[in-house]
Amino acid sequence: MDRFKIEGGRPLQGAVQISGAKNAALPALAATLLTSEPVHLQNIPRVRDIITMAKLLAHMRCNVTSPDIPPSEFTIQAETISHAEAPYELVKTMRASVLVLGPLVARTGYARVSLPGGCAIGARPIDIHIQALEKLGAKISVEHGYVEARAKRLRGAEFRFPKITVTGTENVLTAAVLAEGETLLENCALEPEVTDLAELLIKMGARIEGLGTSTLRVRGVQRLHGATHEIIPDRIETGTFLIAGAITGGDLHLQNCAPEHLRAVIEKLKSCGVEIRCEANSLRVKAAKKLVAADVDTEEYPGFATDMQAQFMALATQAQGVSRIRETIFENRFLHAVEMLRMGANIAIDGNLAVVTGPSKLSGAPVTASDLRASAGLVLAGLVADNTTWIDRVYHIDRGYERIEEKLRSLGARITRVGTGDRDE
Ligand code: EPU
Repeated sequence: MDRFKIEGGRPLQGAVQISGAKNAALPALAATLLTSEPVHLQNIPRVRDIITMAKLLAHMRCNVTSPDIPPSEFTIQAETISHAEAPYELVKTMRASVLVLGPLVARTGYARVSLPGGCAIGARPIDIHIQALEKLGAKISVEHGYVEARAKRLRGAEFRFPKITVTGTENVLTAAVLAEGETLLENCALEPEVTDLAELLIKMGARIEGLGTSTLRVRGVQRLHGATHEIIPDRIETGTFLIAGAITGGDLHLQNCAPEHLRAVIEKLKSCGVEIRCEANSLRVKAAKKLVAADVDTEEYPGFATDMQAQFMALATQAQGVSRIRETIFENRFLHAVEMLRMGANIAIDGNLAVVTGPSKLSGAPVTASDLRASAGLVLAGLVADNTTWIDRVYHIDRGYERIEEKLRSLGARITRVGTGDRDE
């Protein structure tokens, strides 16, 4: 298991390229199951979760090809699907594997997908995905840890999501496009990744109206065809680098990003005193003259993303005053706080509220990453801590950040990856 060794205290300077969005690429890859023709996807981030999804598609006998290694482009052709199944071995490493449920049942009339268990940040059930697919006429049973869905052909229906769910909206949308008749989906997630998926589906021949709104109207078609699509930039990687610039007192130029997808994060950072300049597809971030505290409630898009909460907490430890951070999406997403406490942060947790009093002088310590975004928060804390921070279990960060240590090093950070077999430097 690899670890990161970080020697903090260096302002980051320079330009960094933002990768494609993991959470847009995953549903796009799943959507390739909807057609027998090739679908070409570009700007795919080179991260572990993408490899897992590619393995899952290959397991179903899809032809997965890529011109480069590691791949940033994929052509996937699901000419025939002989194993409409997502096995436990793959789903347990990545719960987004559940995104194949909707496309599989819509295209083949059958899907068998391992039920994802809970994860470090919460229980994360998929009951709403199941309810919606049942509304579209799928017969669903849950047995032996697997969800089995059957339908000769799905039928269009009206469904109002009782709670906003990102992958739930994506799963049901990718089922409805091949259903017979019209589907009306209400209270859909507004995340840019949902809109990016809808745009891919339209290129494949789907008929969807209401993109970017909470009501999606889908007119089902008999079949979809091949398409080429470029995945949107990763707004969470962008936000993480914004905070890396701000927290280290640096000056960074983030290229190939989509500032319009980060309005809430940019506004919040500006209210902390961080200087940010937006251009069409780039951002310039400069350190605050004085970093001041701010309160944050995580919310569904367009609110402040839960996937930016751990990184914001790292920033709050360096801000003057009291920041109250309320996590409203997941029930257990403060595991990084306990590690930051070990580095000298002043954080009091009360249920879903973290009260951070700053600034604190952080000191390097051995810490453990519990999930993807928690790892990013700890890396940011390590970049400002004195002495050496060791972060264990960085496989979490490899799931969703492309070569983060290389990108940070190119900006002047002292961060190295140390394998268990390597000698400590
Ligand atoms: N929920 C239910 N029932 C359902 C579905 C969701 O109760 O059937 C609850 C969840 O437990 C949670 C809330 O609804 O409390 C919202 O969860 P959502 O379904 O929106 O989350 P998700 O689709 O499983 C995606 C991202 C997450 C991100 C969340 C929230 C992907 C692959 N994952 O998860 O990303 O945190 O939306 O924005 O798109 C990450 O990238 O690190 C990550 C965790």
